[in-house]
Amino acid sequence: MLSRIKDLAANLAPRLIEIRRHLHSHPELSGQEYQTAAYVAGVLSSCGLQVKEGIGKVGVVGELRGQGDDPRMLAIRTDMDALPIQEQTGLEFASRQPGVMHACGHDVHTTVGLGTAMVLSQLGESLPGNVRFLFQSAEEIAQGANWMVKDGAMDGVSGILSVHVFPSIPSGVVGIRYGALTAAADDMEITIMGESGHGARPHEAVDAIWIASQVITTLQQAISRTQNPLRPVVLTIGQISGGRAPNVIADQVNLLGTVRSLHPETSQALPGWIEQIVAGVCQPYGARYEVNYRRGVPSVQNDITLTQLLESSAEEAWGREGIQIIQEPSLGAEDFSVYLQYAPGSMFRLGTGFKDRRNPSLHHPHFMVDESAIVTGVVTLAYAAYKYWHQSQPLLVASHAKQTE
Ligand code: NI
Repeated sequence: MLSRIKDLAANLAPRLIEIRRHLHSHPELSGQEYQTAAYVAGVLSSCGLQVKEGIGKVGVVGELRGQGDDPRMLAIRTDMDALPIQEQTGLEFASRQPGVMHACGHDVHTTVGLGTAMVLSQLGESLPGNVRFLFQSAEEIAQGANWMVKDGAMDGVSGILSVHVFPSIPSGVVGIRYGALTAAADDMEITIMGESGHGARPHEAVDAIWIASQVITTLQQAISRTQNPLRPVVLTIGQISGGRAPNVIADQVNLLGTVRSLHPETSQALPGWIEQIVAGVCQPYGARYEVNYRRGVPSVQNDITLTQLLESSAEEAWGREGIQIIQEPSLGAEDFSVYLQYAPGSMFRLGTGFKDRRNPSLHHPHFMVDESAIVTGVVTLAYAAYKYWHQSQPLLVASHAKQTE
């Protein structure tokens, strides 16, 4: 079966590159992927999938009916949105949309999803269960996965796989990560309220700027002394505002920040921990405070069994040298984690780096991919989907064990 999947994917390669280039030159921002979604729906329909549009606002769901009676449903998720970046690659198929660019490779993800649907739809009776393809909108603003789930995209799903391109892994190599892949990313706003007064008479006022600076310092120090160093927390205050004149004591300061963590328990405890520290700093000096903590996306925790499935599929397809076991998680965020609250899953990193030149990072105006990686991604996903039904049951009916780093 592997060689059949490889042949099908290799034959599709020119068409897949055409699809990817079309998507690349017509990027759309988060939540506005109307043309992309219509295009995706057209390709899925032509492969005989049952297609629903407008799921998760602009998302598309395509269902491939298996020929057997296995009740399990495997989902394969890709994202479709681009970024507000002016492309500077000079490619002939560069973005035709000023100020919008597929600089995070979601054009490649969409193409890999479509290619996987094309390959699997040709496997016929070899596919005993159903595969649901999720093409979500608005990953870059961490909204699309929530919209998809609200519209029932995860109903009946028993496992979910996904992919993200990675320029620092060479093209042809598949990056596998067990456990935490990305971080939980939350936002917070802290307001410190003191009392205004004359700059020369601090004892008659409550200086919100001085207290805010204590809050920032104490938070950073407290991380190092109270958080488990093996469960990283990054807290960045990226914006601070307050005060009106050099000789007037400020009565209010606003701090805006982002909070990243990997371990679900740590993530759970962070809002209370932050509030406690802010309170502890403010109270002795008579300042009032408000902490507004907004949950973003949880950490992506790759399921062991489904990660093994991806690893063994990639290893059979590309050999051990075609795999890189990723040692360190990223403190970036990815809303694939939202689906993982409903079913176990795993996301792999698809190496797209050129071997003989510099590879600018994701979100860079010069970001480029080695397109030969598209076939690598399609074969890996399609074969993993096939093996999902054909491996021994006990291995695959894995508990959605909470994993940590
Ligand atoms: Ni991305």
